[in-house]
Amino acid sequence: MATGEGLISMVNWAKIRNDFPALRRTINNKPVVYLDSACMALKPRQVINAMNEYYEQYPACGGRSIHKFGEEASNAYIEAREKFAKFLNAADESECIWTRNATESLNIVATSVKLPKDSKIVTTSLEHHSGSLPFIERARRDGLGIEIVKARSDGTFDIEDWKRTIDHDTSLVSIVHSSNVTGTITPMKEIAEIAHDHGALVMSDDAQYAPHHPLDVQDLNVDFSAISVHKMCGPTGMGVLYGKLEHLKSMNMFFYGGDTVSDVRFENGKILPEYLPPPEKFEAGLQNYAGAIGAGAAAEYLLTIGMHEIEKYERSLLEMVLERFRDMEHVHILGTDDINIKTGLVTFTVDTISSAHDVATFLNDEYNVMVRSGWHCVGPFHYQMGIDPKRGTARASFYLYNNRFDVDTFLSGMETLIEASK
Ligand SMILES: Cc1ncc(COP(=O)(O)O)c(C=O)c1O
Repeated sequence: MATGEGLISMVNWAKIRNDFPALRRTINNKPVVYLDSACMALKPRQVINAMNEYYEQYPACGGRSIHKFGEEASNAYIEAREKFAKFLNAADESECIWTRNATESLNIVATSVKLPKDSKIVTTSLEHHSGSLPFIERARRDGLGIEIVKARSDGTFDIEDWKRTIDHDTSLVSIVHSSNVTGTITPMKEIAEIAHDHGALVMSDDAQYAPHHPLDVQDLNVDFSAISVHKMCGPTGMGVLYGKLEHLKSMNMFFYGGDTVSDVRFENGKILPEYLPPPEKFEAGLQNYAGAIGAGAAAEYLLTIGMHEIEKYERSLLEMVLERFRDMEHVHILGTDDINIKTGLVTFTVDTISSAHDVATFLNDEYNVMVRSGWHCVGPFHYQMGIDPKRGTARASFYLYNNRFDVDTFLSGMETLIEASK
């Protein structure tokens, strides 16, 4: 199987591919071509092994029990957070809160951050529903203003729109760092600067950015970041909320209960709970220890390969697809085809086929090529582009385990499909 992609890279991508057991499967005696990593990434054995080790060797509660299993679970849990903090370049590991997914991270901020009365929240037409709805509902709850910055049709933003929209009434900006439909990368640092000049907080939705690009939250100077661990080779049901410590400290709590308190007394008619600082403040109850350990292993796995290398490699695969797509009859790319401002995914419509689900079904049934179809939880941008969300768009997304064979199989499938649809 071809793998090299003509890349000048120190990374042995063929060897990396072997880390992913799911790719050893065949269906109908043919290899699988997994192009749905923007939804859910495959898991390498390093992550699976780390989680299995927890379940098989020390499947106990972290942070409470003082016996040997408890001690080992606590240590592994602490170590996992340290690994994740390193992945984000957080200033302090307490700035990384384990959550169930990016959606929960976004909801925690939207619900619990203190925002002044009469202020406004700014978000965009390109957000995943998880990046916009929690903030829209927060604005409704507290009677705050809400303003939407419209993305251009290529999925980029006009920086002048941000300068016009963010003013001294703005208390928070929620913005996607890399779009899960157009793949466009937002100039986060520049927007964060505009927001901070006006005293507003910045919530960066890094669900798509973190798995594919080097992420440095200190350099970007964002106040919060939401991460989908399951999209970055980590376990399902895991996410991370990054927040600057000062903000996490001042926020309201989200869940109350065990492990969030240092003391609770009911005395002389008074109820006196003393709450712990972050991260425990946001991690009530027994945690997903295996999930956190898997998340730490995923962060370590990606860092060992190198995020710059991963970014470059994915772009080289995507460029081969874009090159062919640019002149493929009946195919329309949604958003920019400029590889330099794009994460490794392409979303498209085929004008001879009415539903994106038909594209995905054909590729799956005839070629074992797994792509995503639908509205990708980004209804507003589909409407903005005049695409009926029910008809939807198809999306092929690439990751470090894909190769030239995957690209070629996908393109062959597309060519056959278009020929048949004429
Ligand atoms: C840009 C973006 N934000 C948020 C989410 C939600 O992520 P999660 O499934 O981890 O809640 C997704 C998931 O596809 C996404 O692509």
